[in-house]
Amino acid sequence: MAVVTIERVAEHKDQDVTIQGWLYNQRESGKLLFPIFRDGTGVLQGVVSQKEQPEAFAALRGLTQESSVIVKGRIRSEPRAPGGCELGITHVEVVQRVSESEPYPIQLKEHGVDFLLDRRHLWIRTPRQAAILRIRAAAIAAAREFMDGQGYTLTDTPIFTPAACEGTTTLFEVQYVDEQKAYLTQSGQLYLEALAAALGKVYCFGPTFRAEKSKTRRHLTEFWMLEPEAAYAHLEDMMVLGEGLISHVVQSVVYKRRRELETLKRDVAKLEAVRPPFPRLTYDEAVAILQKHGNPAKWGDDFGGDEETILSSQFDRPVMIHRYPAAIKAFYMEPDPVRPELALGFDVLASEGYGEIIGGGERVSSYDLLVKRLRENKLPEEAFQWYLDLRRYGSVPHAGFGLGLERTVAWICGTEHIREVIPFPRMIYRVYP
Ligand code: 4AD
Ligand code: MG
Repeated sequence: MAVVTIERVAEHKDQDVTIQGWLYNQRESGKLLFPIFRDGTGVLQGVVSQKEQPEAFAALRGLTQESSVIVKGRIRSEPRAPGGCELGITHVEVVQRVSESEPYPIQLKEHGVDFLLDRRHLWIRTPRQAAILRIRAAAIAAAREFMDGQGYTLTDTPIFTPAACEGTTTLFEVQYVDEQKAYLTQSGQLYLEALAAALGKVYCFGPTFRAEKSKTRRHLTEFWMLEPEAAYAHLEDMMVLGEGLISHVVQSVVYKRRRELETLKRDVAKLEAVRPPFPRLTYDEAVAILQKHGNPAKWGDDFGGDEETILSSQFDRPVMIHRYPAAIKAFYMEPDPVRPELALGFDVLASEGYGEIIGGGERVSSYDLLVKRLRENKLPEEAFQWYLDLRRYGSVPHAGFGLGLERTVAWICGTEHIREVIPFPRMIYRVYP
């Protein structure tokens, strides 16, 4: 009897199959049992009668939630069952029975989020969490497919680094060998700039670390970022690449993970609208919109969550904001030649109030300006000598950005908090389990 996954049972109607999974829930009605099994790909309702299958009935009766089971039976069409199919059970093998004295701690009722986070290693078994993680995987696959298709080479940047990329306040310091200190990477960007001069168009996609003191629904201390970088590229090139990447990821998930989006009760129509071109606003225009909506923002301020929500709610798709004041952006941003007080940088704000999902722009290419910036920002010049070499030896205009994976997936899934979209979230006060 073929082992089939629950997501594919509809292809096996009127056939005998084997399901390998766990008992998710069970209802008893007279001499009938209606167990619900899960196998990680979906849930399937079974039915077994005491009269016709006494052994299978006895094995399932009173079986504890999350006991592991291998069940055999026939797949039948059943419009009232979730997924439209039901398993007529003929045989049950209990692989491990969860003890009555130590029952599975997560019940099918609502639990508080701290309770669930303490049991994240079990919480991921619930169909909703499994659906989110499958969407995450589909988003990663789509993002790589898009970048590879655009001629970008995947290169991996180091996790131990000697210096800060995104400012010193959020660095995680680690004891390296002997007396040496190292820091966990905040972004692969600086290394990507070297790789772009070597290979042309590159990207990295890996974990990044920030000792974020902000305890918000948008911040993790460990998160994944996809970062492209291209030689001979400008701000506008990166804005086009960014809207293309986001649109491809969203449409690919809508196409390939529709069932999971349904599990999450996500409004798919909102996602279907996510297609290029995205609206573009200059920072100046964004400030004017905020003021019109009664927000106290004034020119020179950075935008926080409230401002991002007002701006993104003006549009049915993500919005791109470009040319921020240089003073509120990172040391490496190229100034606008027309108005040098502005940086040639951009952010993409997701729709529906999910905040910034992309940050990036054009990099300083002049050696002298970069040295000046390092000094103004009190960054250790010694540690940046290799980075200055990129401006000594064949410097070219170049640009890139970073796409935050968890914020993107949280928005696609419509989750309240980004902690649900990474298997084991790391937050300022949580490193367990
Ligand atoms: O805007 P950021 O800080 O940009 C950079 O790190 C650039 N060096 C990237 C580049 O140009 N190569 O971060 C990029 C994105 C943000 O837009 C956001 O989506 C995500 O990374 N991000 C976080 N996601 C989760 N938790 C945090 N603490 C995050 N901080 C940034
Ligand atoms: Mg940013």
